[in-house]
Amino acid sequence: MNSVGVNLYLVGFPGTGKSTVGRQVAKQLNFEFFDSDHEIERLLGKSVADIFTQDGELVFRDWERRYIDREHPVHGSVVACGGGLAIMDGMLEKLRSKGVVLCFHASLETIIDRTARGVHRPLMQSGDGREKRIRELYRRREEAYSRAGTMILTDYRPLLEITLHVLRVYRCEAAKWILQHLWARRVCRHGLDMACSAGKQTQVGKVFPGVRTLVVLSVNYWS
Ligand code: S3P
Repeated sequence: MNSVGVNLYLVGFPGTGKSTVGRQVAKQLNFEFFDSDHEIERLLGKSVADIFTQDGELVFRDWERRYIDREHPVHGSVVACGGGLAIMDGMLEKLRSKGVVLCFHASLETIIDRTARGVHRPLMQSGDGREKRIRELYRRREEAYSRAGTMILTDYRPLLEITLHVLRVYRCEAAKWILQHLWARRVCRHGLDMACSAGKQTQVGKVFPGVRTLVVLSVNYWS
């Protein structure tokens, strides 16, 4: 597998542009695009809003977990994750074990504006106190998002510029991901006890016969 196959997961608060940008990025990479909300709707045959009201948020969260665990292709896909997906315990680690994770950010003003339309976001529905509720949810999640992955700012930037930026970051991170996951797994299979990596951009350390531990001193990009 080369870097082209490593899955890309886009996380972040609702209204930060995960689906809009993700679709464009997938097109450029020749990947399949998935929106976790739409996929869950397809699997359950009802809208996210109906799942929330009829089954409850916990059921929806279980489906998000299940979708990431076993309902999407393990490579060649860009997945725009629902805003709460990466906030759940253990989910970030899971996403990182499956591919590159980038976190989209936008100012609260932009988010409030972008999520004003549509009824498909039960947690951001219109009505009294909408802004206050969004601000509160944002405040509660801010810290988790800040640790979620390389930050992509989507405020006041044209779609093409954001798409190209995401592609650049993805390629770089996919190369590192390959080294840390696939390559490390491969050398382990060849009898090494441990492989770890540090640093960036030069040569991968050599494997000497009889060596039980391999330390990858740096990361080299290839595709
Ligand atoms: C949610 C975000 C939504 C959707 C659901 C819950 C959240 O997805 O999964 O309404 O908890 O932030 P988007 O981020 O695509 O709007």
